[in-house]
Amino acid sequence: MNILLIGSGGREHALARSLSASALCQRLFIAPGNPGTAQHGTNVVLDVTNHQAVIDFCRTMAIGFVVVGPEAPLVAGLVDDLTAAGIKTFGPSKAAAQLEGSKAFTKDLCAEFNIPTAAYRRFTDAETAKTYVRNYGVPIVVKADGLAAGKGVVVATSFEEAEAAIDMMIGGGLGAAGAEVVIEAFLEGEEASFFALCDGANAIPFGTAQDHKRVFDGDEGPNTGGMGAYSPAAVLTPQLQARVMLEIIEPTLKGMAARGMPYKGILYAGLMLTKDGPQLIEYNARLGDPETQVLLPRLNSDLVEALLAAVDGKLNSVSLNWSDKAALTIVIAAKGYPGTVEKGSEIRGIDKAETLDDVIVFHAGTKLDADKIVANGGRVLNVTALGSSITDAQARAYDAVSRIDWPEGFCRSDIGWRAVERERG
Ligand code: AMP
Ligand code: GLY
Repeated sequence: MNILLIGSGGREHALARSLSASALCQRLFIAPGNPGTAQHGTNVVLDVTNHQAVIDFCRTMAIGFVVVGPEAPLVAGLVDDLTAAGIKTFGPSKAAAQLEGSKAFTKDLCAEFNIPTAAYRRFTDAETAKTYVRNYGVPIVVKADGLAAGKGVVVATSFEEAEAAIDMMIGGGLGAAGAEVVIEAFLEGEEASFFALCDGANAIPFGTAQDHKRVFDGDEGPNTGGMGAYSPAAVLTPQLQARVMLEIIEPTLKGMAARGMPYKGILYAGLMLTKDGPQLIEYNARLGDPETQVLLPRLNSDLVEALLAAVDGKLNSVSLNWSDKAALTIVIAAKGYPGTVEKGSEIRGIDKAETLDDVIVFHAGTKLDADKIVANGGRVLNVTALGSSITDAQARAYDAVSRIDWPEGFCRSDIGWRAVERERG
């Protein structure tokens, strides 16, 4: 069948690589894609906010399956419109994508279905919210209800900080996303990500990962979309993973089905591993970026078959085969990221890095300028390596990074430190 993939980042390069490797994939199109996805299919210019244009393209090119990478088209209901037009599409409906699009929705679901998460209250009035914080104490966490591109969460250690966050969010600093805030208890523990592939009624594990959100070594500096990641996350032992399935993922699927919005797609659970067990910090309704760049290179099974089984409600007959190898990815970003960056500088040496065994350089924010690869965004490359352990994958990935010649870029030098320390024992 012909497949259309929506998105343009490193996640989509990793998806394009795995989709095109499937025996079921005839032609792969990526809208809009990047020079990395173009190695695996045909990039096309399509306005994905215009759902009718996407439907028309699918009809013209005889697309049998659409895979949606990022959250914005999910929250905008692209899956609903394509499905209504008879085009098989992977990803949650608009209603089900509220698990990512509305923190208040998710917290209410957790409360109703007994899913472990931080205690919380919802507020639309700033003064009431501040009074609550004063009575509750700090640390406390203030979250905008809606999608806020990583700016919607403030872990406040003082009343002043909490009050400033409330004023900023309810005052319109994040647009409509902050009109309502969720205020929740501060959870202590180690963070890890758990992925599940869901078909509305059944879920199967889709790997574990940990990422580095802060821009500088030692997990310092401002938050980013992620400066690196690795998989598996050994901290999520098989026993803890079984608890996550039983206590978090399965009740979520039951709850969503009970609300008439069955969840189909990838459910990405951000977890805090507290002394009382795993607690849900947040859900994403899609694969992570850069987590996908370490999950998919470890998947031995046919990705298209697995995603189709999820759409068709047939996951109970699927079991996935994962490599025993570990994977680690290092994000090379343009200097200045996560602030403003310059575009257009030339990147050399990607081919040299890829001559190493088990190394893949995913393109995240690049562009082709004549025959040169140039920087075209904040996070630019994701240098990924497989290895016998995280320690081995880390060494290979940094070896690959050293072969890339791009003076205008930078990366962290300690991606995976927590896992490497754990492996050292
Ligand atoms: P979120 O966007 O909800 O994943 O939050 C972003 C980050 O804020 C998380 O990765 C955590 O590091 C932190 N965070 C969110 N909620 C809590 C909480 N209840 N307790 C402690 N840290 C939190
Ligand atoms: N790396 C975090 C995310 O994809 O949301």
